[in-house]
Amino acid sequence: MKGKNIVLGVTGGIAAYKAADLCSRLIKAGAHVDVVMTKHATAFIQPLTFQTLSGNPVIIEQFETPIKWELAHISLSQKADLFVIVPATANMIGKMANGIADDFLSTALLATTAPVMVAPAMNTKMFEHLAVQENMETLRRRGVFVLETAEGRLACGDIGKGKLLDVEAILFAMKKSLAKADFSGLSLTITAGPTAAALDPVRLITNRSTGKMGFELAKQASQRGAKVDLIARTCPKSIQPFVNWMPIETTSDMAEAVANSLQQTDGLIMAAAPLDYQPIRVEKEKIKKTNDDWQLTLVRTVDILRTTPRKEGQVVIGFAAESQNLIENAKKKCKEKALDLVVANDISRADIGFGSEENQVVLVDLNREEALPKMTKSSVADCILDRFLRIRETK
Ligand SMILES: Cc1cc2nc3c(=O)[nH]c(=O)nc-3n(C[C@H](O)[C@H](O)[C@H](O)COP(=O)(O)O)c2cc1C
Repeated sequence: MKGKNIVLGVTGGIAAYKAADLCSRLIKAGAHVDVVMTKHATAFIQPLTFQTLSGNPVIIEQFETPIKWELAHISLSQKADLFVIVPATANMIGKMANGIADDFLSTALLATTAPVMVAPAMNTKMFEHLAVQENMETLRRRGVFVLETAEGRLACGDIGKGKLLDVEAILFAMKKSLAKADFSGLSLTITAGPTAAALDPVRLITNRSTGKMGFELAKQASQRGAKVDLIARTCPKSIQPFVNWMPIETTSDMAEAVANSLQQTDGLIMAAAPLDYQPIRVEKEKIKKTNDDWQLTLVRTVDILRTTPRKEGQVVIGFAAESQNLIENAKKKCKEKALDLVVANDISRADIGFGSEENQVVLVDLNREEALPKMTKSSVADCILDRFLRIRETK
């Protein structure tokens, strides 16, 4: 987002206030934001809010006097890296589909050659109306990126489609459309987070992994154009529309899903922390509490990286979470499991690793080690994906 010119169009729907959150996040991410509001949007939220958040004057009227924006609809439209309409009313979608230019926003949309993204938000009945559906289809056919809507309770009380997609998910889609597309045409299997094993219907063994690193990898890979199979117990709502989430519970579920996914992908990044041990059996009924201690027998789970068959040319990257002898253990894992790369993680440090936003890793293969500086998990994910592509070139 850094340095990108975003034109944010806001139209007259009840979700207009959410555009303020988006504007603020774009500014924090380093984008330059110009906000254009329709007259009806100003009935829902004050231009002053956007002016303050973006640090730029907000454009509303086409024929304002004195005319400050003379040919602004042309210049704005041409400097934009991305034009995004949040929320997009049924009315604006209809105008776009039919080439109507009767206010500043709709005129600027006709004048732009920038990619255009539209986040519809409206009452379920309006959303499902054939006119709106056909207009959205027309826009899609012309290359406009029409986002899905979320389902849920709408402001009018209806429950169904038509709710504005999460701001986080809109931001994700914007980053995706602006990112370099060096993974386009590739597909990836990515695992994230812990697995779990039941002791009985209420008790569960799992571990401290939050999945953040794997989710970042899935997010970045998808933004760079990859098709991603994400194998994990949970998946953040914001990335669900952009990955093929394959939900799993146990380590053997994960092994099966990885084997299936690897049938058609170009490689595997195993960022998950599957349980190495699981209870010897799962009790059907809840185990009753007694005054005695409870001796639990755990058995080994399947070793996914060691046992999953691979195809020629597939890149396989593993993670090693170690609390001692980091490099030595990572090299051993790389060799024993025939990996192309191991991302070695020192879990003894509280400031990085599990649950934290940052990580400091060493990329280890049989020949060398590359120690990366401490950085956000999102930047670590980018570095790992860069290495993925370089390894792929050598295969
Ligand atoms: C309280 C209220 C809420 C509205 N919410 C929406 C909405 O969420 N989506 C929508 O498409 N239209 C909604 N409308 C209707 C639009 O405001 C109306 O179609 C208007 O002409 C849109 O103008 P614009 O597209 O130029 O902003 C709402 C109207 C009112 C009075």
